[in-house]
Amino acid sequence: MKILVINGPNLNFLGIREPEIYGKNTYKNLCEMIYDKCARENIEVEIFQSNYEGALIDRIQDAYFEKIDGIVINPAAYTHTSIAILDALKAVAIPCVEVHISDINEREDFRKVSYDALVAKKQIKGHGFEGYLEAIDYLKEIIK
Ligand code: DQA
Repeated sequence: MKILVINGPNLNFLGIREPEIYGKNTYKNLCEMIYDKCARENIEVEIFQSNYEGALIDRIQDAYFEKIDGIVINPAAYTHTSIAILDALKAVAIPCVEVHISDINEREDFRKVSYDALVAKKQIKGHGFEGYLEAIDYLKEIIK
């Protein structure tokens, strides 16, 4: 099983940005958690982060040609604005799970809208970094 974990803008600043919301652990810590889990469970994984919408779309499109089995995506602020990312996820038709570290329903109203939720098999929110691991478990279940 080959999965791709995609993180959108400002997630590279985890540990620095708003620690009261996102915690003190860094982006590197998050990547290590994901790599460790995937190594233990024999899952091939790539983690990609970009602050650019187009780069995220290019990475989603490449996943189609690489025959990626599942995508875990935290589009960050693009969750609430990007029809282009929604369309890319629809285009490749790869099963995907949407993850948010914070609970987007418990914050400002503008965060309650998620375009990606229209295509994601599941949305996991408010479970911190653990949410990414839960998303991988869910993909494992639906892909086999
Ligand atoms: C986020 C929530 C978004 O509203 C925000 O713009 C982010 C991170 C989260 O993981 O909780 O950058 O996706």
